[in-house]
Amino acid sequence: MYDFSGKYAVVTGAAKGIGAAIAKRLFTDGVAGVALLDIDYDLVNGTAKELDTTGTRAIAVQCNVSDKDSVEAAFKKVYEVFGKVDILVNNAGITRDAMAHKMTYDQWSQVIKVDLDSVFLCTSQVINPMREQGYGKIVNIASTSAFGNVGQANYSAAKAGIHGLTRTLALELGRKNITVNAINPGFIATDIVKTVPDHILEISKASNPMGRLGKPEEIADLAAYLASDESSYVSGQLINCNGGVK
Ligand code: CAA
Repeated sequence: MYDFSGKYAVVTGAAKGIGAAIAKRLFTDGVAGVALLDIDYDLVNGTAKELDTTGTRAIAVQCNVSDKDSVEAAFKKVYEVFGKVDILVNNAGITRDAMAHKMTYDQWSQVIKVDLDSVFLCTSQVINPMREQGYGKIVNIASTSAFGNVGQANYSAAKAGIHGLTRTLALELGRKNITVNAINPGFIATDIVKTVPDHILEISKASNPMGRLGKPEEIADLAAYLASDESSYVSGQLINCNGGVK
């Protein structure tokens, strides 16, 4: 358990899966406020209400993270309600898996926009306020697919892009007491994995040293550490959370 008292957080893609687990963990560990952003307002509002029926410490905000205007409007709302952002978790992401020789430009660009452009757009909304307050924790959810995965040319390029962005931001922002790190989840039991054909999932489980998929809460454990003051000298790191797959 970490101590997030007095801290305000934003988690993108927070309606379900890893994002919801991270928002829940921050909430449970006493965050002063967490904004759950998602393109699906009804769903994310339900998730926020499960945490906080009063809608004061956990708020739902509609946001299409791939759209600059939508991101600006969402963060405007967050700053109006919370006044500041100490923790940003860039989690929102989609897959549009296809072998590269069958991948359309639409599949490519949808994933680049939602998985990579979003990290720049959302981070841009917090960089200057974090620089001014001399404090910030940015946690990016990348993927082990960044190192290459059959059927994921788009997703792996986007996630490798997050790696470069993470390391560069860490170099630029360290002097302002802002840490920037990325987590590389392996196969985690969320809706995204439901798109993977059964025989490939079986191969994945069988070749995993722990013999199972990860749980969203296991990513949330690491995200909470990277969002906490216990990781004050950890920055620019790309940390695998994948059961030990090489
Ligand atoms: N390793 C090795 N070979 C693979 C493979 C893999 N992971 N995936 C597919 N192949 C092989 C198939 O066995 C097949 O070989 P043959 O031609 O010899 O039969 C060939 O590649 C083509 O595969 P498909 O017949 O499945 O082709 P398809 O066009 O119908 O589907 C696909 C392609 C959409 C990529 C489908 O294989 C698929 O969904 N694969 C899973 C992709 C994946 O791993 N996604 C990760 C989702 S989880 C996630 O993204 C979260 C995260 O951060 C990790």
